[in-house]
Amino acid sequence: MNEIDGVSIKKLIGEYGTPLFVVSAKILRNNFKKFRQEFSNKYPKVEVAYSYKANYLLGVIDLIHKEGGLAEVASGFEYEIARKIGVPGKSIVFNGPYKRNQELKRAIEDGAIINVDNKYELELIEDIASDINKPVEIGIRINTDVGIHQLPDRFGFNLESGEALEVVNSCCEKRRLRIAGLHIHLTSYVVQPGEFENFIPAKNIKLIWPKSSEMHRSASERLVKFAQQIRNRFGVTLKYLDMGGGFPDEDSLTPYVRAVVEPILDVFKNDEPLLILEPGRAIVKNAVHLITTVVDVKEMTNEKRRVTLDAGINLLPTSLWSLQEFEVVTNSNENLKETMVYGPLCLQTDIVGIVKLPELKIGDNIIIKNIGAYNIPQSSSFIFPRPFIVLIDDGDLKVLRRAESIDAMLA
Ligand SMILES: Cc1ncc(COP(=O)(O)O)c(C=O)c1O
Repeated sequence: MNEIDGVSIKKLIGEYGTPLFVVSAKILRNNFKKFRQEFSNKYPKVEVAYSYKANYLLGVIDLIHKEGGLAEVASGFEYEIARKIGVPGKSIVFNGPYKRNQELKRAIEDGAIINVDNKYELELIEDIASDINKPVEIGIRINTDVGIHQLPDRFGFNLESGEALEVVNSCCEKRRLRIAGLHIHLTSYVVQPGEFENFIPAKNIKLIWPKSSEMHRSASERLVKFAQQIRNRFGVTLKYLDMGGGFPDEDSLTPYVRAVVEPILDVFKNDEPLLILEPGRAIVKNAVHLITTVVDVKEMTNEKRRVTLDAGINLLPTSLWSLQEFEVVTNSNENLKETMVYGPLCLQTDIVGIVKLPELKIGDNIIIKNIGAYNIPQSSSFIFPRPFIVLIDDGDLKVLRRAESIDAMLA
C-alpha cells in the first residue's frame, strides 16, 4: 500500500506527519449510496439515518447529509451538532437512554423523530405535551430476544414480558402521546454475562459484526407482529419502523436487506410504513485509515518481536476488543514474524494487536486499515495529543480536524 485514493502516503506524511487519520470521501459516498440503494431497490419508502456515534467528524457527517442521509443521534450533544451544521429537526432521529427535559422540548418543537427508551422519558414527554397542550408523536424502542447472548437488554421496552404492550396501552389511554413508530437495534457489542462477584465488563465484551442476517429477520418479524397487535387492539397506525443499525458493509448486504424487508412487505400491503435504517459501521469503517510510524523495534530471542508505533489505544480504543488490520508501507511480505504491536503510551495495556509482520526498522510506516468506526469519537488525549485528520476528495486534501494544540487542551 503506497497510496490512498491516488494520494501517495509519502506526501501525506510529508505534509501532516504521523500518526495521521486519513478519510476517503469516495468510499464514504459510495458506501452511503449503495446502502440506501440496496434497501430502496426492495422497499418503497426508505430513509437512512447515519449513526453519529460511529464517527461524527463534521467532514464525515456533512458529506453524508449532502448525499441525503438523516442523522441518528444518541444524546442532546449529538443533536446539537446536527442542528449546528444545518440539519433540520425533521431529519434527525433522536435515540439514547438519557435525553434531558430541555433537549426533548427542543426536539419536539423541531419535529424530530424521537424514540423513547424508558418510562422516565415517557413521563417527561407527557409533561411537555401537557405544557404545550398538544399530543406528541413518539416511537418506542423495543427489545426482544433474537438469540444474541447478552445481559438483559438495557435499552427500551421488552416484548416478551408484555412491557412494550403495557406502554402502548398506557399511551393510548392517556392520549397525550401518539405512538408513531417502533424502533429496534441489534447491538454489535455484546457483554456476556459473567460471575456477579468481581465482574469486569471489558473482559466479557465481544464484538459480533456482522451478525447473522437471520437475527435481523427475527427482529423484523417480531416488530411487524407487534405492529399488527397494537393496530388490532388499540387502532395504532404506525408511520415508521426503525430497524436500527448493525449491518455489514455493502459487499454482503443483500441477505440483510431481504431479512429486514420481507417480513414487513408480507404484512403491510400498499400501506407500508416508512422504513428507517441507522447504519454506522457499515458506512464509515472502511473509509478511514491511520498512518503510523515505527518508533522502536525489539527482536526477542524466541523468534518473536515487539514493535512500538506512534499510535496506540489512545487513538484506537477498539483495539481492546477487536482485531486491527495492519499493512506495512513499501515492504515485502517476506520473513514474517509474530509481532506484538504496542502503542506509545507508557502503559502495559497499550496493545494494538499481535500479527505476523515482515522485517521492520525504526521509521517504517504501518497503516492500520479500516478503523473509521468508533475510534475517532472515543479517542483521547491520554499522554499524547490527538493528531491531524485529513480527507481526500477527488485528489484534493482537506483538513477535517487540526492536530490538538497544548493551548486548546489546557484551556
Ligand atoms: C440505536 C443505534 N442505532 C444505530 C447504531 C449503529 O450501529 P452500527 O454501527 O453497528 O451500524 C447504534 C450503535 O450502537 C445504536 O445504538
